[in-house]
Amino acid sequence: MTDFPERPPLYYGSYLKLDRLLSCQEMESAKLGRPAHDEMLFIVVHQAYELWFKQILFELDAVQEIFASQPVHDRDVGRASRALGRVQEILKLLVHQVDVLETMTPLDFLDFRELLYPASGFQSTQFREIETRLGLRRDDRLPFDRMAFDQRLSEADRRKLEAVECRPSLSDQVEAWLERTPFVDFGGYRFQETYRAAVSRMLGRDIAYIERNQAISEEERQTELKRLASARERFDAIFDAARHRELHARGVWRLSLRALQAALFINLYRDEPALQVPFNLLSRLMDIDETMTTWRYRHAQMVQRMIGLKLGTGGSSGHDYLKAAAERHRVFGDLFALSTFLIPRSTLPDLPDPVRRAMAFTYAAEQV
Ligand code: HEM
Repeated sequence: MTDFPERPPLYYGSYLKLDRLLSCQEMESAKLGRPAHDEMLFIVVHQAYELWFKQILFELDAVQEIFASQPVHDRDVGRASRALGRVQEILKLLVHQVDVLETMTPLDFLDFRELLYPASGFQSTQFREIETRLGLRRDDRLPFDRMAFDQRLSEADRRKLEAVECRPSLSDQVEAWLERTPFVDFGGYRFQETYRAAVSRMLGRDIAYIERNQAISEEERQTELKRLASARERFDAIFDAARHRELHARGVWRLSLRALQAALFINLYRDEPALQVPFNLLSRLMDIDETMTTWRYRHAQMVQRMIGLKLGTGGSSGHDYLKAAAERHRVFGDLFALSTFLIPRSTLPDLPDPVRRAMAFTYAAEQV
């Protein structure tokens, strides 16, 4: 049937190395002669996380290999999207896994918590690798204390992570891929002028609404107007290299000018056949960013329930640190910010025929 060589029949337990896997749950409390029942759950849940982290990294290997090739083949982008879709499903599972851990009460946790010092999930090297591979940079990180985030890792883990930091992240790779997107300026076409006018009108309407709104205080009005002024500033920078350079230096936009324009174009004209695969890819990245953030908040809530205002075993302020990290540790924030500048399909400038034809699937091109 197959051309695999003959070999002895496989046995479930030996294939999965269950002897080894199931002998890795050693309770510290039991070693000290005071077994705390919930420590087993604590260990198993953490180990299950680490196994899923391993699978996420395995999927990221495949995705990053695709984006490392030059040029990236269109058919492979669909494959990358599917792998990222799998990462997203795993992350959703990881959010729900917190529910299982929460069946442990704070008092149950106190039966063994002090045995954990100074270990903490903060030292999960695989989690740090996922963050770094996605594109979280050292400088983006919330300062923990005066030490760098990796100073609590072993020397070997630190070196491993430094090697990961030296390689392009998925965010870098997607940026380079976006920069090569054709069509944005295709055939001398400039969709900018009409589109910019439509967005300006939209923002102008919002400003007029806020100025007229009697239901808000003067202070709220000024805050809202400031927010819209900064949205306009961000928008203008998408079409102006000098302004973009300035905002990029301030960290307001992370993506390069060309990559931002391409991401915007893909979002606006995502119904065009040639843009559907890139649109899916960008959507998967947003899913992952969003679900990582959901996990961070969920973990922070669970920590608050479990230890209240106590410090973490790793030495942080605990819940406060985790909540602030959830807000700050975003990688694909630019893609979310671009939604500000989406306008209804009915007001979107039509693409010139040659551009639409070029973006249709070949077998459908005749009907365009
Ligand atoms: C009773 C359960 C848990 C408590 C009380 C807890 C508490 C904490 C605290 C306080 C921190 C901040 C660092 C520190 O001071 O230690 C932290 C960080 C972290 N924990 Fe947990 N944790 C729990 C379960 C888990 C689980 C099941 C995982 C899954 C792997 C996990 C993964 C992490 C990660 C990755 C960080 C670093 C987050 C970051 O820096 O953004 N934790 N945890």
